[in-house]
Amino acid sequence: MEPNKFTQKLTAYPLSSHQAWEESQNPDLLKLDWNEADVELPESLKHSLVEFIKNGRLNWYPDVANQTLLKHIAEYCDVPTTHIQYFTGEDSVLDFVVRTFISPDDEVGVVAPTYDNFRVFVESVGGKITPLHPDDIFKSDISTLLNRISRHIKLMYLVNPNNPTGTLYNIEEIDRLLCTFPDTLFLIDEAYFEFTGVTVVSLVKKHLNLIVGRSFSKAFGLASFRIGYAVTSPLNLEHINKLRNGKNIAALAQIAAISALRDPQYMTEYVAEVTKSRDRMSKALSEIGFLVQETPANFILIKTADAKSLQSELKKHGVYVRLMDHLQGLESYVRITVGPRKSTDQFLKVMSNLVSNGDIRPT
Ligand SMILES: Cc1ncc(COP(=O)(O)O)c(C=O)c1O
Repeated sequence: MEPNKFTQKLTAYPLSSHQAWEESQNPDLLKLDWNEADVELPESLKHSLVEFIKNGRLNWYPDVANQTLLKHIAEYCDVPTTHIQYFTGEDSVLDFVVRTFISPDDEVGVVAPTYDNFRVFVESVGGKITPLHPDDIFKSDISTLLNRISRHIKLMYLVNPNNPTGTLYNIEEIDRLLCTFPDTLFLIDEAYFEFTGVTVVSLVKKHLNLIVGRSFSKAFGLASFRIGYAVTSPLNLEHINKLRNGKNIAALAQIAAISALRDPQYMTEYVAEVTKSRDRMSKALSEIGFLVQETPANFILIKTADAKSLQSELKKHGVYVRLMDHLQGLESYVRITVGPRKSTDQFLKVMSNLVSNGDIRPT
């Protein structure tokens, strides 16, 4: 069967191999390719899941409007519950926003290079991606962005902090964008918010043209559950809710998210640990000759003479990192997820051995 005309032309989002799952019993494996959290979940969270498996309504469809979850997210974001909706991961927020607001041939701006999965959602409905390239991809530059966004752009996607470059715009800068382009819808992706503390959720009460996406997959360490949420005006949610399929957000995912928000200390401790670990990792990699691009999130980039062979050498030692060669300007970069001290020590040991044995060359 022929797929529709948009799917025919679509290039898939290049996922890195998930071979790590086949080796998931290996205690020495380092999975540093998908920016997940290497964090032990609290006993209270595990207990709530076990309790539901033993005594919960496993035969019912999940709650499509879980008031307890909405209340916890609303408190966490300090906005009314009417401004919150939860989804099957933040990817699903991005997908539903695109499907709700974009028609074929609509222009969708992205600050490039960025999280490429979003492109797939746009192109699958016939939207046209307009990449806005900053002069320096590693610097946030509000004046250039203000100049380059055109009034034809219907939806503007900005990841803050950006994956993978780490650029971060502050709330005043995003407020300026929202005021300058009132007819453009801004989708601000805050998947890595917990690592920076910088957020624009408070602006949803003031601007109708703002939707913020968030994830439980990163700092909260709940990637396997697939849960995320949107923060925006009740009117925008009314439109999105026409498409959203509330049955898709698994009951166990909802329970895990509630439990994580009730007891978020494990997350804040993890963020503090990653921050220290990231600085140590950057310093040590610079010392052995790599050009390091630090970010305020749980990943860094390193530039290397041969990104592919670095990736394959690391794989031989059970270390998975992410190539960035699908993104313009990042062809010779590798992205490394930063975890706790123990995993950073193990990673640095492998890296310095590879360099001193001559198996890889930094530059
Ligand atoms: C910028 C960005 N947005 C969204 C996502 C997806 O988040 P989720 O796992 O909640 O779907 C990711 C995952 O890597 C990401 O990097």
